[in-house]
Amino acid sequence: MLNVESVKEKLKEVIYPGFTKSIVDFGFVKDIEAAKDAVYVEIEITSSAPEVEAQLRDDITKKLELLGAKRIDIVVKKPKMPRETSSHGKNIAPQIKNFVMVSSGKGGVGKSTTTVNLAIATAMQGKKVGLLDADIYGPNIPRMMGIVGKRPEVVGNKVKPIEAYGIEVMSMGSLMEEGQSLIWRGAMIMKAIQQFLQDIMWSDLDVLFIDMPPGTGDAQLTLAQSVPVTSGISVTTPQKVSLDDTARSLDMFKKLHIPIAGIVENMSGFICPGDGKEYDIFGKGTSAALAKAYDTVVLGEIPIEPAIREGGDEGKPIVYHQPSSETAKRYMKAAEQLWNQIEKINEEGGVSNEAIQPTTPPGVSACSTGGCH
Ligand SMILES: Nc1ncnc2c1ncn2[C@@H]1O[C@H](COP(=O)(O)OP(=O)(O)O)[C@@H](O)[C@H]1O
Ligand SMILES: [Mg+2]
Repeated sequence: MLNVESVKEKLKEVIYPGFTKSIVDFGFVKDIEAAKDAVYVEIEITSSAPEVEAQLRDDITKKLELLGAKRIDIVVKKPKMPRETSSHGKNIAPQIKNFVMVSSGKGGVGKSTTTVNLAIATAMQGKKVGLLDADIYGPNIPRMMGIVGKRPEVVGNKVKPIEAYGIEVMSMGSLMEEGQSLIWRGAMIMKAIQQFLQDIMWSDLDVLFIDMPPGTGDAQLTLAQSVPVTSGISVTTPQKVSLDDTARSLDMFKKLHIPIAGIVENMSGFICPGDGKEYDIFGKGTSAALAKAYDTVVLGEIPIEPAIREGGDEGKPIVYHQPSSETAKRYMKAAEQLWNQIEKINEEGGVSNEAIQPTTPPGVSACSTGGCH
């Protein structure tokens, strides 16, 4: 007899691979329909391993055939479970769905340039995007986004982000007078990062890109403790010495339990404006091995191109202003890959929310006490 009850009874014999309980006992069977010799079964499993799904399909089919089913339709769903809290169980900006932390081992590798172009590319692909310049030592996002001197609107005790190129932007550079500099102490950095997330009126964003200060210190730790960082990107140049620094920034992501979305290899080859040909200057393709070692991918190889620097200096990002250039295409592709990674990370439920024990008193860099180096 083929009916919902008999099918359910039979599915109690299908053991979830690697465990002793059945898919029914685990509560993985979400829907059963049965009519004549046709059965529809919908299951939801957390594993993303294809062999688990294949084995379950096989087992279910065999069991249902024993019941006399001729047409068997099995739908396997994966629950969507983005991380909801930070490493400290907090989320001080819950209206933002995903946070992408862009880091580099050292300054000058093109971290800000990459963040700006990836953020705009992601917005051009239809997402609601924000860009937070958390590089409080060298806030140069306003120049790159063409908003130098533009003051944000203040509403009560909150500040509205500035809009440019279809994204919301905030930077310490937009809050201070030009040329002003502050000497930051650890506790101030923590406070600044938290205020950037809490006191800025970010909309309901699909993703907030965060341009971090170079290195692996207070700002990174504070961010990871304040919001559920979806993933980290590391920007590197192809030289071996730069890759060593990049390994440190990837280690930092691991220590902070931040899933790594990938590496952007910047200044990878040189596209000569004269003949349009590509030349090797710092080398290229060297970060692939590093990506493999950290079980991640190279999101893109961005060449050295004078137009990239000019776009940065003039506040006219190349991905927006020269969309048909080879470089713009590579940024678009990298943004697409990044989004795929974000979706994958969310489908897998992110990494464990295992709390990071603060091994250092607030305001002391995790790394100065032997944390990351
Ligand atoms: N691929 C590139 N081609 C040409 N110039 C670049 C490229 N990437 C970055 N630059 C330039 O290099 C300088 C440093 O880049 P920036 O993004 O400010 O680095 P970081 O944020 O890592 O300190 C800037 O003048 C920028 O315009
Ligand atoms: Mg920078």
